[in-house]
Amino acid sequence: MSIAIVTGSAGLIGAEAVRFLSGKGMHIVGIDNNMRKEFFGDDASTEWSRRQLEETIPHYRHHTTDIRDQAGVEEIFAQYGSEVEMIVHTAAQPSHDWAARDPHTDFTVNANGTLTLLEATRKFSPRASFIFTSTNKVYGDNPNKLPLDELDTRWEVNESHEYFEHGIDEWMSVDHTKHSLFGASKLAADAMVQEYGRYFGMNTVCFRGGCLTGPGHSGTKLHGFLSYLVKCAVTGTPYTVFGYKGKQVRDNIHSFDLVNMFWHYHQAPRPGEVYNAGGGRHSNCSMKEAIAVCEEMTGQPMSVTYSGDSRIGDHIWYVSDTRKFQRHFPDWSYQYSLRYNRRTRLAQFSPYSETPACLASVSFRSPCYSPPAPSLELRSIRPRSCFRGRLWPTLNSASRRRLSTTRSPIHSTSTSPRSTHTSRR
Ligand SMILES: NC(=O)c1ccc[n+]([C@@H]2O[C@H](COP(=O)([O-])OP(=O)(O)OC[C@H]3O[C@@H](n4cnc5c(N)ncnc54)[C@H](O)[C@@H]3O)[C@@H](O)[C@H]2O)c1
Repeated sequence: MSIAIVTGSAGLIGAEAVRFLSGKGMHIVGIDNNMRKEFFGDDASTEWSRRQLEETIPHYRHHTTDIRDQAGVEEIFAQYGSEVEMIVHTAAQPSHDWAARDPHTDFTVNANGTLTLLEATRKFSPRASFIFTSTNKVYGDNPNKLPLDELDTRWEVNESHEYFEHGIDEWMSVDHTKHSLFGASKLAADAMVQEYGRYFGMNTVCFRGGCLTGPGHSGTKLHGFLSYLVKCAVTGTPYTVFGYKGKQVRDNIHSFDLVNMFWHYHQAPRPGEVYNAGGGRHSNCSMKEAIAVCEEMTGQPMSVTYSGDSRIGDHIWYVSDTRKFQRHFPDWSYQYSLRYNRRTRLAQFSPYSETPACLASVSFRSPCYSPPAPSLELRSIRPRSCFRGRLWPTLNSASRRRLSTTRSPIHSTSTSPRSTHTSRR
């Protein structure tokens, strides 16, 4: 029997991994205690996802163990031992804003929890691939020191810079930078994952994610921006953008594409590796661009406030260079991007849960590389079909009406940016 242990199995990436690996014939042991609900409140609960997995995935076994519980984790690993071929570790406190509220919890979940899993792997399943979902926040705010130009809808790294064409690579320094407490706890885990590869020769790997998205996100204010943005667009909830005039750029990778990276790594693991894993030049957007697409999709203007206060350590421009991974695993390629998001393609975004987050999987191609008119491609989409799932029953009649009315031309009512950030960085 071939077993994968997936931590955070009810979360965005964890649940995608469960489905993907189950599709490959593996038996899955999931570990998730729904701590996301404790971090971010009822809206962020991943209980629905756990239930869905238990109902639909053959050979899925769920444990509500806390990854910080060393005895509990080791008991699970001891039970399956060398049959475990793969550990996909996604459980985390994932928000850098939340981390400052309770640094002890943030650090013990992100750093100590990872150490507990590494040790359990070394003891009971040392030949398994250990896949860690790290983050681009390990680079702290070093990306903000790049020379950036302010364009109409986004910040962009200066054309003369080596990162312009392909984005930020793994050689960016993790030192001399403000990480946020979250970035620091993830960096501690990231270093330890690398060390278990280098020191013990285990098949460990860090994927330093950009912005991850997909149909399984329980988006909330403090985490899962695209998913939350779409929720706000659908329900008419006011949305606040913090800092940088809403022109801050994130690259977005669909959860399927990321998990597919994990799978390729598992076929030919390289101990202690580190890969930047985001949408790269293939798929990225600024907040303003994302808002414009949401408005296009719902046919309704969003109520957006631009606050001049940027979030501590927030990236102004981040685009991942994924060429190292592509060099090591040339058979992998992106499956999702806006370019494919015609009506038929969009339907596939949400094959197993028709949540509004399916729209959050929409990604954007950089205007530097293609015309910045993603909304045109989305014109034919009927949002209602995407919203019919988990969220639809919870919408009040006003929100349902918003989605049911005929599409109208977009009139942006967003308030003017108040940020004083105009200088090049
Ligand atoms: N979502 C992003 O944009 C993003 C970007 C970069 C990196 N990452 C990293 O990728 C990973 C997955 O992110 P995600 O968006 O799927 O997160 P998520 O919050 O959707 O899923 C994480 C799951 O882990 C569970 N969990 C949290 N603490 C736990 C604990 N102590 N014990 C057991 N389970 C626990 C939560 O209940 C949740 O279901 C995280 O490590 C995150 O730091 C995410």
